[in-house]
Amino acid sequence: MQIFVTGGAGFIGSAYVRALLQDEYPGAAGASVTVLDLLSYSGNRANLPVADSRLRFVQGDIADAALLRDLLPGHDAVVHFAAESHVDRSIAGAVPFVTTNVLGTQVLLDAARTAGIGRFVHVSTDEVYGSIAEGSWTETWPLMPNSPYAASKAGSDLLALAAHRTHGMDVVVTRCSNNYGPYQFPEKVIPLFVTNLLDGKQVPLYGDGGNIRDWLHVADHCRGIQLALEKGRAGEVYHIGGGTELSNRELTGRLLDACGAGWDMVRPVEDRKGHDRRYSLDITKISEELGYAPQVTLDEGLASTVAWYRDNRDWWEPLKAGSA
Ligand SMILES: NC(=O)c1ccc[n+]([C@@H]2O[C@H](COP(=O)([O-])OP(=O)(O)OC[C@H]3O[C@@H](n4cnc5c(N)ncnc54)[C@H](O)[C@@H]3O)[C@@H](O)[C@H]2O)c1
Repeated sequence: MQIFVTGGAGFIGSAYVRALLQDEYPGAAGASVTVLDLLSYSGNRANLPVADSRLRFVQGDIADAALLRDLLPGHDAVVHFAAESHVDRSIAGAVPFVTTNVLGTQVLLDAARTAGIGRFVHVSTDEVYGSIAEGSWTETWPLMPNSPYAASKAGSDLLALAAHRTHGMDVVVTRCSNNYGPYQFPEKVIPLFVTNLLDGKQVPLYGDGGNIRDWLHVADHCRGIQLALEKGRAGEVYHIGGGTELSNRELTGRLLDACGAGWDMVRPVEDRKGHDRRYSLDITKISEELGYAPQVTLDEGLASTVAWYRDNRDWWEPLKAGSA
Protein backbone atom coordinates (compact mmCIF):
# COMPACT_ATOMS: atom_id res chain seq x y z
CA MET A 1 0.00 0.00 0.00
CA GLN A 2 1.27 3.48 -0.86
CA ILE A 3 -0.12 6.38 1.13
CA PHE A 4 0.31 10.04 0.19
CA VAL A 5 0.28 12.29 3.26
CA THR A 6 0.05 16.07 2.98
CA GLY A 7 1.26 18.14 5.93
CA GLY A 8 3.11 15.09 7.23
CA ALA A 9 5.83 17.20 8.85
CA GLY A 10 3.32 18.94 11.13
CA PHE A 11 2.08 17.86 14.53
CA ILE A 12 -0.72 15.43 13.67
CA GLY A 13 0.49 14.40 10.21
CA SER A 14 3.88 13.38 11.56
CA ALA A 15 2.28 11.36 14.38
CA TYR A 16 0.27 9.53 11.73
CA VAL A 17 3.34 8.90 9.54
CA ARG A 18 5.44 7.67 12.48
CA ALA A 19 2.62 5.28 13.45
CA LEU A 20 2.36 3.99 9.86
CA LEU A 21 6.09 3.40 9.63
CA GLN A 22 6.09 1.64 13.01
CA ASP A 23 3.34 -0.66 11.66
CA GLU A 24 0.91 0.35 14.40
CA TYR A 25 -2.04 -0.16 12.05
CA PRO A 26 -2.33 -3.84 11.01
CA GLY A 27 -4.39 -2.90 7.92
CA ALA A 28 -1.48 -0.82 6.58
CA ALA A 29 1.45 -2.97 7.69
CA GLY A 30 4.45 -2.46 5.42
CA ALA A 31 2.91 0.60 3.75
CA SER A 32 5.22 3.08 2.08
CA VAL A 33 4.56 6.76 2.57
CA THR A 34 5.11 9.92 0.54
CA VAL A 35 4.96 13.12 2.57
CA LEU A 36 4.33 16.40 0.78
CA ASP A 37 4.89 19.33 3.10
CA LEU A 38 5.71 22.97 2.46
CA LEU A 39 7.67 23.20 5.73
CA SER A 40 5.86 26.34 6.79
CA TYR A 41 6.70 27.66 10.27
CA SER A 42 4.91 24.66 11.88
CA GLY A 43 6.35 21.97 9.60
CA ASN A 44 9.55 20.37 10.79
CA ARG A 45 11.66 17.67 9.18
CA ALA A 46 12.81 16.66 12.67
CA ASN A 47 9.29 15.32 13.30
CA LEU A 48 9.86 12.53 10.78
CA PRO A 49 12.21 9.52 10.54
CA VAL A 50 13.56 10.86 7.23
CA ALA A 51 16.14 8.04 6.90
CA ASP A 52 13.42 5.35 6.83
CA SER A 53 13.51 3.65 3.42
CA ARG A 54 9.69 3.40 3.39
CA LEU A 55 9.38 7.21 3.60
CA ARG A 56 9.82 9.68 0.77
CA PHE A 57 9.78 13.31 1.86
CA VAL A 58 9.07 16.07 -0.66
CA GLN A 59 9.08 19.73 0.25
CA GLY A 60 6.37 21.46 -1.75
CA ASP A 61 2.96 23.09 -1.86
CA ILE A 62 -0.39 21.28 -2.12
CA ALA A 63 -1.45 24.09 -4.47
CA ASP A 64 1.32 23.14 -6.96
CA ALA A 65 -0.66 21.19 -9.57
CA ALA A 66 2.38 20.31 -11.68
CA LEU A 67 4.21 18.82 -8.70
CA LEU A 68 1.11 16.81 -7.74
CA ARG A 69 0.83 15.48 -11.30
CA ASP A 70 4.36 14.06 -10.90
CA LEU A 71 3.98 12.75 -7.37
CA LEU A 72 0.48 11.31 -7.01
CA PRO A 73 0.23 8.47 -9.57
CA GLY A 74 0.71 5.04 -8.04
CA HIS A 75 -0.62 5.92 -4.60
CA ASP A 76 -3.61 4.06 -3.14
CA ALA A 77 -4.81 6.79 -0.81
CA VAL A 78 -4.35 10.44 0.15
CA VAL A 79 -4.55 11.57 3.77
CA HIS A 80 -4.81 15.34 3.74
CA PHE A 81 -3.54 17.13 6.86
CA ALA A 82 -1.81 20.15 5.30
CA ALA A 83 -3.35 23.39 6.49
CA GLU A 84 -2.78 26.69 8.15
CA SER A 85 -3.96 25.59 11.56
CA HIS A 86 -3.75 28.32 14.20
CA VAL A 87 -6.88 30.39 14.97
CA ASP A 88 -4.94 33.38 16.35
CA ARG A 89 -2.87 33.62 13.16
CA SER A 90 -6.09 33.58 11.09
CA ILE A 91 -7.40 36.53 13.10
CA ALA A 92 -4.19 38.44 12.38
CA GLY A 93 -4.29 37.58 8.65
CA ALA A 94 -6.72 35.24 6.91
CA VAL A 95 -5.38 35.16 3.34
CA PRO A 96 -2.90 32.27 3.81
CA PHE A 97 -5.75 30.26 5.36
CA VAL A 98 -7.90 30.69 2.28
CA THR A 99 -4.96 30.02 -0.03
CA THR A 100 -3.85 26.75 1.56
CA ASN A 101 -6.99 25.42 3.22
CA VAL A 102 -9.49 26.26 0.46
CA LEU A 103 -7.57 26.69 -2.81
CA GLY A 104 -4.86 24.16 -1.91
CA THR A 105 -7.47 21.53 -1.00
CA GLN A 106 -9.25 22.02 -4.32
CA VAL A 107 -6.01 21.70 -6.31
CA LEU A 108 -5.21 18.52 -4.38
CA LEU A 109 -8.69 17.07 -4.93
CA ASP A 110 -8.45 17.73 -8.68
CA ALA A 111 -5.00 16.18 -8.88
CA ALA A 112 -6.08 13.11 -6.89
CA ARG A 113 -9.06 12.62 -9.21
CA THR A 114 -6.89 12.93 -12.32
CA ALA A 115 -4.39 10.46 -10.86
CA GLY A 116 -7.19 7.98 -10.10
CA ILE A 117 -6.42 7.83 -6.39
CA GLY A 118 -8.77 5.54 -4.47
CA ARG A 119 -9.56 6.87 -1.02
CA PHE A 120 -9.11 10.53 -0.06
CA VAL A 121 -9.30 11.28 3.68
CA HIS A 122 -9.81 14.97 4.42
CA VAL A 123 -8.82 15.84 7.99
CA SER A 124 -10.93 18.58 9.52
CA THR A 125 -12.06 20.08 12.79
CA ASP A 126 -15.02 20.49 15.14
CA GLU A 127 -14.51 24.26 14.84
CA VAL A 128 -16.51 24.26 11.59
CA TYR A 129 -19.69 24.03 13.69
CA GLY A 130 -19.07 27.22 15.68
CA SER A 131 -19.92 26.98 19.38
CA ILE A 132 -22.47 24.86 21.27
CA ALA A 133 -23.82 25.75 24.72
CA GLU A 134 -25.27 22.33 25.58
CA GLY A 135 -25.30 18.84 24.08
CA SER A 136 -23.01 17.66 21.29
CA TRP A 137 -22.83 18.08 17.53
CA THR A 138 -23.68 15.19 15.26
CA GLU A 139 -22.23 14.96 11.74
CA THR A 140 -25.38 16.46 10.16
CA TRP A 141 -25.22 19.69 12.20
CA PRO A 142 -25.13 22.92 10.11
CA LEU A 143 -21.72 24.52 9.69
CA MET A 144 -21.52 27.91 11.45
CA PRO A 145 -17.80 28.69 11.73
CA ASN A 146 -16.73 31.82 13.58
CA SER A 147 -12.98 32.29 13.01
CA PRO A 148 -11.37 32.70 9.58
CA TYR A 149 -9.51 29.43 10.29
CA ALA A 150 -12.76 27.56 10.94
CA ALA A 151 -14.44 29.17 7.92
CA SER A 152 -11.58 28.09 5.66
CA LYS A 153 -11.76 24.53 7.00
CA ALA A 154 -15.55 24.51 6.49
CA GLY A 155 -14.98 25.61 2.89
CA SER A 156 -12.49 22.80 2.34
CA ASP A 157 -14.87 20.22 3.89
CA LEU A 158 -17.61 21.28 1.50
CA LEU A 159 -15.27 21.08 -1.49
CA ALA A 160 -14.16 17.58 -0.46
CA LEU A 161 -17.78 16.43 -0.12
CA ALA A 162 -18.66 18.11 -3.42
CA ALA A 163 -15.89 16.12 -5.13
CA HIS A 164 -17.66 12.98 -3.95
CA ARG A 165 -21.13 14.11 -4.99
CA THR A 166 -20.10 15.64 -8.32
CA HIS A 167 -17.32 13.37 -9.47
CA GLY A 168 -17.92 10.24 -7.41
CA MET A 169 -14.56 10.56 -5.66
CA ASP A 170 -14.02 8.21 -2.74
CA VAL A 171 -13.80 10.96 -0.11
CA VAL A 172 -14.18 10.64 3.66
CA VAL A 173 -14.11 13.70 5.96
CA THR A 174 -13.04 13.45 9.60
CA ARG A 175 -13.69 16.20 12.16
CA CYS A 176 -11.82 16.01 15.43
CA SER A 177 -11.64 17.89 18.69
CA ASN A 178 -8.57 19.60 20.19
CA ASN A 179 -5.46 17.44 19.86
CA TYR A 180 -2.52 17.31 22.23
CA GLY A 181 0.65 15.25 22.47
CA PRO A 182 4.35 15.35 21.55
CA TYR A 183 5.74 17.43 18.64
CA GLN A 184 2.98 20.07 18.77
CA PHE A 185 4.25 23.50 17.77
CA PRO A 186 4.58 25.57 20.96
CA GLU A 187 2.01 28.20 19.95
CA LYS A 188 -0.98 25.99 20.85
CA VAL A 189 -2.19 26.12 24.42
CA ILE A 190 -0.80 22.88 25.92
CA PRO A 191 2.77 23.04 24.53
CA LEU A 192 2.84 26.83 25.04
CA PHE A 193 1.83 26.55 28.69
CA VAL A 194 4.05 23.55 29.42
CA THR A 195 7.18 25.03 27.82
CA ASN A 196 6.59 28.41 29.49
CA LEU A 197 6.19 26.74 32.89
CA LEU A 198 9.28 24.56 32.34
CA ASP A 199 11.16 27.83 31.71
CA GLY A 200 9.71 29.50 34.82
CA LYS A 201 7.61 31.89 32.70
CA GLN A 202 3.98 32.91 33.20
CA VAL A 203 1.20 31.56 30.98
CA PRO A 204 -1.49 33.74 29.33
CA LEU A 205 -5.07 32.64 30.10
CA TYR A 206 -7.72 34.04 27.75
CA GLY A 207 -10.74 35.86 29.25
CA ASP A 208 -12.41 34.17 32.21
CA GLY A 209 -10.89 30.77 31.37
CA GLY A 210 -14.38 29.32 31.01
CA ASN A 211 -14.09 28.20 27.38
CA ILE A 212 -14.59 24.44 27.13
CA ARG A 213 -12.71 22.07 24.83
CA ASP A 214 -12.79 18.30 24.34
CA TRP A 215 -9.20 17.01 24.53
CA LEU A 216 -8.05 14.22 22.23
CA HIS A 217 -4.64 12.57 22.34
CA VAL A 218 -3.02 12.71 18.92
CA ALA A 219 -2.49 8.91 18.89
CA ASP A 220 -6.24 8.38 19.31
CA HIS A 221 -6.95 10.88 16.55
CA CYS A 222 -4.59 9.06 14.17
CA ARG A 223 -6.20 5.70 15.02
CA GLY A 224 -9.56 7.23 14.12
CA ILE A 225 -8.21 8.55 10.82
CA GLN A 226 -6.86 5.10 9.94
CA LEU A 227 -10.26 3.53 10.70
CA ALA A 228 -11.90 6.11 8.42
CA LEU A 229 -9.35 5.34 5.71
CA GLU A 230 -9.84 1.57 5.95
CA LYS A 231 -13.54 1.28 6.70
CA GLY A 232 -15.30 4.65 6.37
CA ARG A 233 -18.12 5.00 3.84
CA ALA A 234 -17.45 7.25 0.85
CA GLY A 235 -19.07 10.68 1.09
CA GLU A 236 -19.48 10.46 4.87
CA VAL A 237 -18.26 12.63 7.74
CA TYR A 238 -16.95 11.00 10.93
CA HIS A 239 -16.29 12.70 14.27
CA ILE A 240 -13.20 11.78 16.25
CA GLY A 241 -13.30 12.98 19.87
CA GLY A 242 -11.54 12.29 23.13
CA GLY A 243 -14.55 12.41 25.44
CA THR A 244 -12.77 14.66 27.96
CA GLU A 245 -14.25 18.15 28.24
CA LEU A 246 -12.36 20.68 30.33
CA SER A 247 -12.57 24.43 30.74
CA ASN A 248 -9.36 26.27 29.94
CA ARG A 249 -9.13 27.11 33.64
CA GLU A 250 -9.36 23.42 34.58
CA LEU A 251 -6.77 22.53 31.95
CA THR A 252 -4.48 25.27 33.27
CA GLY A 253 -4.82 23.88 36.80
CA ARG A 254 -3.78 20.42 35.62
CA LEU A 255 -0.77 21.78 33.72
CA LEU A 256 0.31 23.89 36.71
CA ASP A 257 0.15 20.77 38.91
CA ALA A 258 2.06 18.67 36.37
CA CYS A 259 4.83 21.31 36.20
CA GLY A 260 4.90 21.99 39.95
CA ALA A 261 3.78 25.63 39.54
CA GLY A 262 1.09 27.75 41.24
CA TRP A 263 -1.63 30.16 40.06
CA ASP A 264 0.81 33.06 40.45
CA MET A 265 2.25 31.83 37.14
CA VAL A 266 -1.03 32.60 35.33
CA ARG A 267 -1.49 35.98 33.63
CA PRO A 268 -5.08 36.74 32.56
CA VAL A 269 -5.17 38.31 29.08
CA GLU A 270 -7.92 39.87 26.98
CA ASP A 271 -10.14 37.25 25.41
CA ARG A 272 -9.54 36.06 21.83
CA LYS A 273 -11.83 37.85 19.34
CA GLY A 274 -14.89 35.74 18.49
CA HIS A 275 -13.72 33.07 20.97
CA ASP A 276 -15.98 30.00 20.71
CA ARG A 277 -17.29 29.14 24.16
CA ARG A 278 -17.67 25.39 23.90
CA TYR A 279 -16.99 22.56 21.46
CA SER A 280 -18.49 19.11 21.88
CA LEU A 281 -18.57 16.24 19.39
CA ASP A 282 -20.93 13.28 19.42
CA ILE A 283 -18.78 10.27 18.44
CA THR A 284 -21.56 7.67 18.26
CA LYS A 285 -21.25 7.26 14.48
CA ILE A 286 -17.56 6.37 14.32
CA SER A 287 -17.85 4.25 17.47
CA GLU A 288 -20.75 2.17 16.16
CA GLU A 289 -19.76 1.98 12.48
CA LEU A 290 -15.99 1.74 12.69
CA GLY A 291 -15.34 0.53 16.25
CA TYR A 292 -13.51 3.70 17.37
CA ALA A 293 -12.88 4.37 21.04
CA PRO A 294 -10.27 6.70 22.53
CA GLN A 295 -7.61 4.71 24.39
CA VAL A 296 -5.48 7.37 26.07
CA THR A 297 -6.93 8.80 29.29
CA LEU A 298 -6.44 12.50 29.90
CA ASP A 299 -4.35 11.78 33.02
CA GLU A 300 -1.97 9.46 31.15
CA GLY A 301 -1.90 11.64 28.06
CA LEU A 302 -1.14 14.89 29.88
CA ALA A 303 1.51 13.24 32.07
CA SER A 304 3.32 11.71 29.07
CA THR A 305 3.03 14.95 27.09
CA VAL A 306 4.50 17.06 29.89
CA ALA A 307 7.28 14.46 30.28
CA TRP A 308 7.99 14.62 26.53
CA TYR A 309 8.42 18.41 26.56
CA ARG A 310 10.57 18.14 29.69
CA ASP A 311 12.82 15.59 27.94
CA ASN A 312 12.92 17.21 24.50
CA ARG A 313 14.10 20.78 24.97
CA ASP A 314 16.31 20.37 21.89
CA TRP A 315 13.12 20.10 19.82
CA TRP A 316 11.17 23.08 21.12
CA GLU A 317 13.75 25.62 22.28
CA PRO A 318 14.79 26.61 18.72
CA LEU A 319 11.13 26.85 17.67
CA LYS A 320 10.30 29.19 20.56
CA ALA A 321 13.40 31.25 19.90
CA GLY A 322 12.40 31.56 16.23
CA SER A 323 8.81 32.58 16.92
CA ALA A 324 9.56 35.01 19.77
N1 LIG B 1 -4.20 20.53 16.18
C1 LIG B 1 -5.49 20.34 16.42
O1 LIG B 1 -5.92 20.32 17.57
C2 LIG B 1 -6.44 20.10 15.29
C3 LIG B 1 -7.79 19.92 15.60
C4 LIG B 1 -8.68 19.67 14.57
C5 LIG B 1 -8.25 19.57 13.26
N2 LIG B 1 -6.94 19.78 12.97
C6 LIG B 1 -6.53 19.69 11.55
O2 LIG B 1 -5.52 18.72 11.46
C7 LIG B 1 -4.61 19.06 10.42
C8 LIG B 1 -3.19 19.08 10.95
O3 LIG B 1 -3.12 20.01 12.03
P1 LIG B 1 -1.78 20.18 12.88
O4 LIG B 1 -2.18 20.57 14.24
O5 LIG B 1 -0.89 19.02 12.69
O6 LIG B 1 -1.17 21.46 12.14
P2 LIG B 1 0.35 21.90 11.97
O7 LIG B 1 0.28 23.38 11.78
O8 LIG B 1 1.21 21.36 13.04
O9 LIG B 1 0.79 21.20 10.61
C9 LIG B 1 0.37 21.64 9.35
C10 LIG B 1 1.40 21.15 8.34
O10 LIG B 1 0.95 21.53 7.03
C11 LIG B 1 2.07 22.03 6.32
N3 LIG B 1 1.58 22.98 5.29
C12 LIG B 1 1.02 24.19 5.49
N4 LIG B 1 0.69 24.75 4.32
C13 LIG B 1 1.03 23.85 3.36
C14 LIG B 1 0.93 23.84 1.94
N5 LIG B 1 0.40 24.89 1.27
N6 LIG B 1 1.36 22.75 1.28
C15 LIG B 1 1.92 21.70 1.93
N7 LIG B 1 2.05 21.65 3.29
C16 LIG B 1 1.61 22.72 3.98
C17 LIG B 1 2.92 22.70 7.37
O11 LIG B 1 4.28 22.87 6.94
C18 LIG B 1 2.79 21.74 8.53
O12 LIG B 1 3.76 20.71 8.46
C19 LIG B 1 -5.08 20.42 9.88
O13 LIG B 1 -5.83 20.20 8.70
C20 LIG B 1 -5.95 20.97 10.99
O14 LIG B 1 -6.95 21.82 10.48
C21 LIG B 1 -6.03 20.05 13.95
